[in-house]
Amino acid sequence: MAAIRFRRAVPADAARVALLPREGEAGGDPPERMARYLAGEHHPQQALPPRAMWIAMEGAEPVGYVAGHLTRRFACDGELQWIYVVPSRRRSGVGRELVGLLARWFVENGARRVCVNVGDEAARPFYLQCGAADLRPHWMVWDDVGRVLEGEAPVDGEGWGRVDDPGPGRA
Ligand SMILES: CC(C)(COP(=O)(O)OP(=O)(O)OC[C@H]1O[C@@H](n2cnc3c(N)ncnc32)[C@H](O)[C@@H]1OP(=O)(O)O)[C@@H](O)C(=O)NCCC(=O)NCCS
Repeated sequence: MAAIRFRRAVPADAARVALLPREGEAGGDPPERMARYLAGEHHPQQALPPRAMWIAMEGAEPVGYVAGHLTRRFACDGELQWIYVVPSRRRSGVGRELVGLLARWFVENGARRVCVNVGDEAARPFYLQCGAADLRPHWMVWDDVGRVLEGEAPVDGEGWGRVDDPGPGRA
């Protein structure tokens, strides 16, 4: 598979990425709501204005994304709003890389305690692996999301990162 690159999203990206989840899958919202969220016009409960989204691109095609915002929900500083990776690119580190990019943004914005609504129980092992712990039914929390970054190299240049070809057996 080609290298996957990551870039910061703009509201105009919402129309494309919102079409990635298949019917019934968690991790997104209708295009209009995603665009309004990114534009700062739609606010999840107790959300504060600062928010950010990253897209994973394979060539010209989006293959995943993550978004989050600052919040006061559950005495947290931040909330992971959506994360999604297309089925063909799962289990190759894309989700973990996306969490790392958002974690870095949270830390840069003074947010350490970060919650996430586990919209699909199948995602719980992923969040556990990324260092989150149970908070309450359907919710998990990073007490210090900065720990996600421990041991990570900084992303290069202008907000781009890269996941190398994972090789046979891991894609
Ligand atoms: C959850 C999701 C984003 C994970 O993305 P991903 O790119 O596959 O995750 P990664 O490859 O970075 O996984 C990192 C680690 O998390 C764990 N993990 C990820 N998915 C897992 C699964 N389905 N079952 C068990 N462990 C899992 C593994 O330990 C994995 O490392 P490994 O592959 O070396 O064993 C992806 O499965 C997805 O988009 N699911 C549908 C949408 C969704 O549920 N979003 C979350 C809503 S709450």
